[in-house]
Amino acid sequence: MKLMFELSKEHATLPCAEVLATLKAEHMEATLISSNEDVLIAETKPNVAGIKRLAERLAFTFVIDELLFSCPAALDEIVRHAEKHPLPMQGSIAIRCKNRSSHIRSEQLIDQLGDVYTKKRVVNLTSPDIEVRAIVTEDIAYLGIKKAGLDTSHFQQRRGHLRPFLLPITLHPKIARAMVNLSQVKKQQTLLDPFCGTGGILLEAGLIGTHIIGSDVEQKMIDGSQKNLEFYHLKNFQLYCTDIGDISRYVPSVDAIATDFPYARATTTKGEQLTKLYNRAFETISQVLKKNRYAVVGISSEDIRAIGEQYLSVVATYPVKSHRSLTRYFVVYKHV
Ligand SMILES: C[S@@+](CC[C@H](N)C(=O)[O-])C[C@H]1O[C@@H](n2cnc3c(N)ncnc32)[C@H](O)[C@@H]1O
Repeated sequence: MKLMFELSKEHATLPCAEVLATLKAEHMEATLISSNEDVLIAETKPNVAGIKRLAERLAFTFVIDELLFSCPAALDEIVRHAEKHPLPMQGSIAIRCKNRSSHIRSEQLIDQLGDVYTKKRVVNLTSPDIEVRAIVTEDIAYLGIKKAGLDTSHFQQRRGHLRPFLLPITLHPKIARAMVNLSQVKKQQTLLDPFCGTGGILLEAGLIGTHIIGSDVEQKMIDGSQKNLEFYHLKNFQLYCTDIGDISRYVPSVDAIATDFPYARATTTKGEQLTKLYNRAFETISQVLKKNRYAVVGISSEDIRAIGEQYLSVVATYPVKSHRSLTRYFVVYKHV
């Protein structure tokens, strides 16, 4: 089946990368058919449980549909294709439209699709058996049957200021979740954040069923992380107050790493020169991360990426603008 992911468009490349990494993490072998800022289409075997897990994990996707067809974004083309693509099951129907084009009127499109798809079917707008969804961009129209709607409001409810222990260093939960997903960590595997701070990344990993290990050189961060994790009812975690260089004493090996490096502006480095600290950090990461696994690292400038390349290989980089016109770079490394 072809799955269509309606992307949130909050970033040019991160939503696509998150979907592809999460498909792998959830053992859903998939072939990428096409992608743009609006939509990603991938061919995969039908897997209801897998789609449910994707919906629980993804941060930058709105809806997952089964694709019926795509065609040029012109009304007559869409209707012509709809006539050739009957719905594959019985049941009541609702037709909805996400219209991002400037030249097609949503009401007209829904009317015409209704003529094709509601023949001999009951229309039920509140709880239909089948929800047909049209996503229309400037050039292409996509038609699909909804498989899962993602309620991403829970990310807003976990923003830093709503947790018991807050410092301005913490990432937005959606970014933290995307980092976890980019690490391709699987349920019940172990993810380490060796600069855990207030525990924001650990929280997102723990909530998808990963065993989490956090460490930080500051005891107040460890205490604060514990408070935050317990506040969200997480139990399956280990926390250590330790310098990055000593982690292997506590942690033998891990399946994934997601971490946001300190950058001296808002967090301590205990007076250590940043290049030296980052060298030690990447060396430790390469010691504890299993081979062929991924580390996702937040850094404050692209130059730092090369320090990591002495130990790991770079898969991709995602620049993300944060407040005060700062950009953070999230780099996916593989331990080869
Ligand atoms: C950018 S913050 C991490 C923020 C975190 N992602 C969060 O959600 O709060 C970096 C953390 O690195 C810690 N740190 C600085 N130097 C360290 C070192 N040598 N070893 C371990 N942790 C260190 C700081 O105490 C700080 O909590």
